[in-house]
This record gives sequence, C-alpha cells and structure tokens, in this order.
Amino acid sequence: LPRLYHERVVDHYDNPRNVGSFDKNDPSVGTGLVGAPACGDVMKLQIKVDDSGKITDACFKTFGCGSAIASSSVATEWVKGKQMEEVLTIKNTEIAKHLSLPPVKLHCSMLAEDAIKAAVKDYQAKKTKPSEAPPVEKAANA
Ligand code: FES
Repeated sequence: LPRLYHERVVDHYDNPRNVGSFDKNDPSVGTGLVGAPACGDVMKLQIKVDDSGKITDACFKTFGCGSAIASSSVATEWVKGKQMEEVLTIKNTEIAKHLSLPPVKLHCSMLAEDAIKAAVKDYQAKKTKPSEAPPVEKAANA
C-alpha cells in the first residue's frame, strides 16, 4: 500500500470510532446529513444531547472515501463531552491538520464540519418546536 495517507487516516479508516445510528426521532438526538456535490459522498453524523446542552454521545455513517470516513470518525470523538456551542467552532482545517490530509482531500474534512453544524441545527430546531402543544385549541373553542 503506498504511504499516501497519514497513519491516523489509516487508523480511523481501519478502526472507525462510533460507527452507528441513533433514532432520529428521539428528541435528544440531532442528525446532520450532508453530501459533497463534487464527489457524491454522503456523511451522516448524529449527536445525543443532555438537558445542559452537553453532547453525551455521537455516531456516524459515511458513504465515502477513506478521508471522509476518517474525518467523521475524528469528528465524533471530538464532539463527545463538549457543549453544543463549543463544537460549532470545530473547523475542517483542524480535522485536516490532525489527519494530515492532502489539499485535494480538504473537502472530505469539510463534510465533517458541515455534518457537525447540521446535527446541532437539527437538535436545536427540534428543541424549539412547540412539542408541548399549548392549550390554544381549548381557548379557541371556548
Ligand atoms: Fe469526496 Fe472524500 S472524495 S468526501
């Protein structure tokens, strides 16, 4: 195998961390599903959030290249145990640097950054949705 990739990429590719799925209808779960138009690769990253806004767990499924798989694996490791606002500052360049990705593979780490943001957004959207249907109907009928 040519040594094109940093050993960390190979490690995360061979032993990806946190592969899996959470129930996307679970109110404590945020799901980010993003795609790279250039190559057609798709990444799903999910977070589990507690009441204080802390990410207690994360998982991913990536249909894509080795760099995308490695990037999502790293992303799930980095978001665990952090606050949601904190993970929004994770930059794809940090992931790329950690994995020593070559410039042509930068968009693969971009997928991971986008997926984190999308997962947080999904969780927040769920939270703000009025699930505790207020007694509007009753009032209207009264
Ligand atoms: Fe597209 Fe890596 S080649 S995500």
